[in-house]
Amino acid sequence: MRLLFLGDVVGRSGRKVVKHRLPELVSRWRLDFVVINGENAAGGFGITEPICQELLDAGADCVTSGNHVFDQKEALVFAARQERFLRPLNYPPQTPGRGANIFTARNGARVLVVNLMGQLFMPALDDPVAAVVREIEAMPLGRECDAIVVDFHAEATSEKQVMGAFLDGKASLVVGTHTHVPTADHRIQPGGTAYMSDVGMCGDYDSIIGMQKDEPLHRAMTKIASGRLGPAMGEATLSGIAVELDDTTGLATKVSALRLGPHLEEAVPTFWDEDR
Ligand SMILES: [Fe+2]
Ligand SMILES: [Fe+2]
Repeated sequence: MRLLFLGDVVGRSGRKVVKHRLPELVSRWRLDFVVINGENAAGGFGITEPICQELLDAGADCVTSGNHVFDQKEALVFAARQERFLRPLNYPPQTPGRGANIFTARNGARVLVVNLMGQLFMPALDDPVAAVVREIEAMPLGRECDAIVVDFHAEATSEKQVMGAFLDGKASLVVGTHTHVPTADHRIQPGGTAYMSDVGMCGDYDSIIGMQKDEPLHRAMTKIASGRLGPAMGEATLSGIAVELDDTTGLATKVSALRLGPHLEEAVPTFWDEDR
């Protein structure tokens, strides 16, 4: 089974690169399932229902989110009815939307996607470990589902590595999102779970984490907010992780970073082109 996870889509340029490149990648690599974090897709802050649909139409099977999930207030409404859109699971139970759902991939596999948020340097939510334990005990890998993808939206690499180690052997893929900067530690852990501390963003890297540089620089020099932060509008880079899973165990057999676009060194999963 072939999985692709793309990091936080930032603004119009991020949406453009997803729409421009993802459909071709889905067919070229015969991808079975695609997850995209869309928390910054609407002008850098949150996501609207039409934008969520754009990402689904481009090839996403599930759109995850994070701390910016409700920046656009309409997300409070559509999060409840759009079954392919997730907000972090460890929000209070009264929060609209869902934090996990099960989907059927293009190869017929049952895929559980869980969206979690960290506790270090983030808004205070419930314990993400307790939340994910409840999900995977109800839907164990290899029994109730064929693949488990966990998007752990968190700031600290230490907290992300703890989640990766905790879920090793219990999930197919654990990725970090939120920092908008890809790490170089994509790998398969000893128990067979693919892991990457942060998959980066789909956005313009000639920026401050996807935002135009002027205002953050001004704030750094003066300690005064003089304007709004706006997404950088230059050409975006598609950034994420590609994973091949064993169809019987649901564990990872191959992993590669994906970086396509200007500013960052290109990375593509060569293992899917070789067997065409
Ligand atoms: Fe983000
Ligand atoms: Fe975030």
